[in-house]
Amino acid sequence: MPDILPDLWLPPSGTVICPANAIAPEETRGFVISDTHSANQLDLIIWHTPDGLRGFVNRCPHFGLPLETLPDRFLNASGDALVCSAHGAVFDATGFCVAGPCQGKALVPLELDVRPRASADTPPADQNANDGALTDKDIVLIGRLAHS
Ligand code: FES
Repeated sequence: MPDILPDLWLPPSGTVICPANAIAPEETRGFVISDTHSANQLDLIIWHTPDGLRGFVNRCPHFGLPLETLPDRFLNASGDALVCSAHGAVFDATGFCVAGPCQGKALVPLELDVRPRASADTPPADQNANDGALTDKDIVLIGRLAHS
């Protein structure tokens, strides 16, 4: 399968994306990470699924557009799939398109990790502040995952 993102830029492995409690269970958020030395950016989605955090490059394999119209709104009405607002492609928790115009293609998956916060540079998230297990941790980007 040809690479759908030959120009994909990734920040260094271990780059902090957000506090670990910034994404409520079964919710999604979008983030843009910018390179301080160039115009490179990574637009990504994090989905807090019942099976853990999932990360994807926010670029639909149909026309290469970002999925969302409204900030952080990536899920369908039942909350069990990502939906592209442009033409309705539906993606499962592995990033594969299961319905819509790019069925059989996939979002580019990203490897994430949750790590203890290394410094006080990242303030605690303002939501889910009672989630004590995650308050001193961050979600970090490890790199690109290969589809299995
Ligand atoms: S750009 Fe996503 S379905 Fe067309």
